[in-house]
Amino acid sequence: MRIAVYPGSFDPLTNGHIDILEKTSKLFDKIIIAVVHNVTKTALFSLDERKSMILESTRHLNNIEVECFSGLLAAYVKEKNACAIIRGLRTVTDFEYEMHMALMNKVLIPEVETIFIIATHSNIFVSSSGVKEAALLGGDVSSLVPPAVFNGLTEKIKQMK
Ligand code: COA
Repeated sequence: MRIAVYPGSFDPLTNGHIDILEKTSKLFDKIIIAVVHNVTKTALFSLDERKSMILESTRHLNNIEVECFSGLLAAYVKEKNACAIIRGLRTVTDFEYEMHMALMNKVLIPEVETIFIIATHSNIFVSSSGVKEAALLGGDVSSLVPPAVFNGLTEKIKQMK
């Protein structure tokens, strides 16, 4: 079975992430979305909230699992018996950061490849923080995120008021 891990903060999942998942779900038998607690970022949603929005938004793909994890990505990928790490590339700005991470992971787990998927052009400007900022300031982000995430954002903003 060919398993790939798609790691990220997903705070929250956007249509950009869905784009990458729709492209890669055809290439692997199973994709594990690993929702990571990134200590360098202040999260809006808890890991469990992110996980449940992802589960709801990926129902149309039948080979997706969602897990939360903390720790070293390389160890997690090995434990899951995955053969690949999936990362999306939007612009050249992503490339430098991604290349360093891929090279580091190659040293830690040489048997695993990082697969880069080029984002569809309509999504290259989409980021989780952009979506959060616009939504918090009253912007309509419904075209940038799946409905479950839009509802989650609306609810979160209501709670914060
Ligand atoms: N569409 C839309 N947005 C995209 C995207 C796409 N195709 N690809 C990336 N992004 C955005 C994300 O929304 C996110 O936006 P934000 O910064 O506004 O939140 C940003 O690009 C990058 O975030 P993400 O993909 O979630 O990665 P990250 O930088 O938060 O974390 C990990 C990357 C989780 C893979 C990395 O931190 C990790 O491996 N952590 C585990 C610890 C470890 O092993 N460290 C050593 C690594 S070598």
